[in-house]
Amino acid sequence: MAMGILRRVVSRVSSSPASMLIRIRAHASEAQAQQVQPTARDATTFKTFQIYRWNPDNPSKPELQEYQINLKECGPMVLDALIKIKNEIDPTLTFRRSCREGICGSCAMNIDGCNGLACLTKIPSGAPTTITPLPHMYVIKDLVVDMTNFYNQYKSIEPWLKRKNSPPVPGKEIPQSKKDRAMLDGMYECILCACCSTSCPSYWWNPESYLGPAALLHANRWISDSRDEYTAERLEAINDEFKLFRCHTILNCSRACPKGLNPGNKIQNIKLLQMGRGLVAKA
Ligand code: SF4
Ligand code: F3S
Ligand code: FES
Repeated sequence: MAMGILRRVVSRVSSSPASMLIRIRAHASEAQAQQVQPTARDATTFKTFQIYRWNPDNPSKPELQEYQINLKECGPMVLDALIKIKNEIDPTLTFRRSCREGICGSCAMNIDGCNGLACLTKIPSGAPTTITPLPHMYVIKDLVVDMTNFYNQYKSIEPWLKRKNSPPVPGKEIPQSKKDRAMLDGMYECILCACCSTSCPSYWWNPESYLGPAALLHANRWISDSRDEYTAERLEAINDEFKLFRCHTILNCSRACPKGLNPGNKIQNIKLLQMGRGLVAKA
């Protein structure tokens, strides 16, 4: 008896308009769920990365390794993709990164043929993206390059304030007018990422004797500083057919700079200053 009542209640509920609606909706969402799966796997959502791999512990020919990631589960930048690959697919993938906001300069690499910072470069849509180390640098592992020569060149221009006289007020900072301070704009922002130098053909061919655009931009930064008292000596130190005059104004450097700086223009400034001093070396 009780069972009979229960059956009738169930049959009444299942044929009511409300329950019909619920069942239609359930069917619809089931069908949608079935459609979502194939869509999620199409090319607009899944992205292929071809990444340069080389391991010094197992030295063989370098190769491009392919990884596929779901862009819906990834941040928008190339560095997000690299971190996702390392965390979820292949922990052996090696690259440098720190700040994730274009400040430290450590994530510089070549992305689809252009040097840039992985953390400031949006994941390109469409075709597979190829990521390789900065060009013409010795590779330590995967995307990590040896920056020793680059940093030594930076050090060689003596990137610090040099004075012959003591400060106007001993123990205090040396004042600078707003106009003089503005002379450093476009140089102090450099983060030494090496995107410029490693995009310069002159630097590729003479990486040890030509200082390259990054070091020369910094040389110009100290030459332009109103507080520095070694301008003539600084100019003399780089008045060299290789150190300075291997720049042939190709301007790849200015195009490559992820901070929007113009190292090619700063090198021109140094050359003009050399001419003004009558100290031009034979190019
Ligand atoms: Fe990097 Fe630009 Fe500085 Fe060159 S000038 S090292 S590209 S920030
Ligand atoms: Fe190279 Fe830039 Fe000079 S690309 S040749 S450093 S202008
Ligand atoms: Fe620091 Fe990209 S992680 S500049």
